[in-house]
Amino acid sequence: SQSTVHVINHLDRGYLRQALEHDVRTGLTAVPKWLPPKWFYDAAGSELFSQITRLPEYYPTRRELAILRARAADLAAASGADTLVELGSGTSEKTVLLLEALAPRVYTPVDVDAVTLSAAAHRLAGLFPGLRVRAVCADFERHLALLPRTGRRMVAFLGGTIGNLEPAARAVFMKELRATLRPGDTFLLGADLVKDTGRLVAAYDDPAGVTAAFNRNVLRVINRELDADFDADAFEHVALFDERQEWIEMRLRASRDMRVRIGGLGLVADFAEGEETRTEISAKFRPEGLRAELAAAGFEVRRRYTDPAGDFTLVLAGV
Ligand code: AVJ
Repeated sequence: SQSTVHVINHLDRGYLRQALEHDVRTGLTAVPKWLPPKWFYDAAGSELFSQITRLPEYYPTRRELAILRARAADLAAASGADTLVELGSGTSEKTVLLLEALAPRVYTPVDVDAVTLSAAAHRLAGLFPGLRVRAVCADFERHLALLPRTGRRMVAFLGGTIGNLEPAARAVFMKELRATLRPGDTFLLGADLVKDTGRLVAAYDDPAGVTAAFNRNVLRVINRELDADFDADAFEHVALFDERQEWIEMRLRASRDMRVRIGGLGLVADFAEGEETRTEISAKFRPEGLRAELAAAGFEVRRRYTDPAGDFTLVLAGV
C-alpha cells in the first residue's frame, strides 16, 4: 500500500515575514532586548539543533528516546490513537518509535519551517508504507484550530519545547490545545526536569560551540530575511540557569558597541558593549508542577514516565 504525503502550508511568505518583522521590532526596541526562539529554525538552524542533540552534554533527546523505546507500546495501548499529531516536529527523529508502536493511519507533523517539515514528511512516508502523512506548516502557538479534527488523536509535543514558553504563554497554549481535543484524545508531553545546575548549563554551553552557533543563527536569519547587518561573530553566547524561575536562559552578549541596521524594518538598534539580548528560555519542570499546570488546563495525567536517571519526563494526559 502506497503512502501519501500532503503538505498544507498555513504560513505563506507574507505571514512568516509579518510575524518575524513584528517579533524583531518588538524585541529589539524592548529594554532589555529579546528575540523569540522560534526564529532559530531555518534550514541551517534545524541542522545545528540536530547536531546539538548528538552532543554528549545535551542529554534531553537521548533521555526522551530511552523513555520512548521502553514505553512506546504502553503509550500506544493507553492512548488507543489512530491519528498522531506532532507539534514542533522538526526532523521527526524520535517519531519513528511512536509510529512503530501506534501504527496510526494518519500522521500530522506541524512545524514552522516548510523545508524541514516537507523533508521529514517524505522520509517518514517512505519508512511507513500505507501511512497518510498530512504535514501542516503552521505556528503551534497560533494555529491549533487548524489541526485535523478527525480520528482518535494523540497530540505529541516532545523534546521539552514546552519549556520555550513562559508560564503565562504555556497556560494559554495548554488551554487552547485542550479546547481542540475531544474525549478519547490524548496529549503526550515531553518535559525536561530540574536537576544539578552544572549539568543543565553544560547542556546549553557545549565546548564544541555548536549551541553558540545555533544561538547566533537567529542573527543570520534576521540578516537574510530582514536585510540587517548584524556581525554575528561579535556576539558571545551566554547560557545560565535562573534558579528562581527554574529555566535556562540563552543570551547573546555584544562584545563591543554596535549600531545595527535592520533595513527591512527601517530600524536602527544600538548595542552597548556587554549588553545582553535574551534569545531563549528553556524551562525545567518538577513532576508535581507539571501535573498542576496540566490540571489547570483541563488535562488529567494518565501515564507518567521518567528515564532511570530522572532527567526527563514524558506525560500522557487525557481530557
Ligand atoms: C528544541 C526547544 C527543546 O530548549 O533544549 C537546545 C532548544 N536550545 N539548545 C531546548 C535548544 C539550546 C531545545 N528545544
